Amino acid sequence: MNKNKPKKLPPRIPEGESIQDGPEMGLDELNKQFKKRMKEYERFVKFVVKDLNLKDNSNVLEIGPGPSWISILLVKSNPSFKLVGLEISNDMIKLAKKNISDENVENNISFILGNAKDMSIFEDKSFDAIISHDSLHHWEEPIQVFNEIARVLKDDGILCIRDGRRDIGLGAKIIFQLARFFISKKMSYFWKTSIMASYTPVELQEMINLTRLKNKIEIKTDIFDIIICSPS
Ligand SMILES: C[S@@+](CC[C@H](N)C(=O)[O-])C[C@H]1O[C@@H](n2cnc3c(N)ncnc32)[C@H](O)[C@@H]1O
Repeated sequence: MNKNKPKKLPPRIPEGESIQDGPEMGLDELNKQFKKRMKEYERFVKFVVKDLNLKDNSNVLEIGPGPSWISILLVKSNPSFKLVGLEISNDMIKLAKKNISDENVENNISFILGNAKDMSIFEDKSFDAIISHDSLHHWEEPIQVFNEIARVLKDDGILCIRDGRRDIGLGAKIIFQLARFFISKKMSYFWKTSIMASYTPVELQEMINLTRLKNKIEIKTDIFDIIICSPS
């Protein structure tokens, strides 16, 4: 048997785009589940601000902000940032609006209901930065979204898209199984379905090679995550 032969991966199981807009779970409960991920959000924000060097007064687009905790943390880290959240789910925008009001950052964050595959509402080179956290595996037409990102991002703009990966190794699988003892059944279910819907680094690189982002980004990985970002 050839030991170097790559193991066969389970096929991707898409999750669909809008994660709510239905009575699946009350919005308050959903918000609570998201809030448990605050440490993860803080790490992402730190990476964007410090490692990718997000400048004062940046005009930032967040794709799929959900309850908007990332945008909220960004603005709290630097009140000169202005954020626009492009979100496909009406329910999520409701939740996000409540959160930005509770956190007193309404003046810095606004939302647009729409699908990131069509950003014709924005002019070319509108944004200093585009970020997205845990949303990519939901996009039904990622190639179109990547091309739209390339169009609306300034030439020297910052890009940071973080998502899970489907090709997790044995170490990550063990951590996942152990984590299930400490998180709710719902969280563990969401985590598993998002892993199954996500891509591998190779699949993403192949996809990006077909878009105008080709040669403009780098892909970083760790045991659970993939980050597509501007070269640092
Ligand atoms: C798993 S949630 C992540 C929310 C948030 N970014 C976070 O990390 O907490 C994915 C979000 O992406 C949104 N979404 C999925 N596909 C989208 C698309 N094509 N355009 C805009 N938003 C989208 C969903 O409605 C949902 O709010």
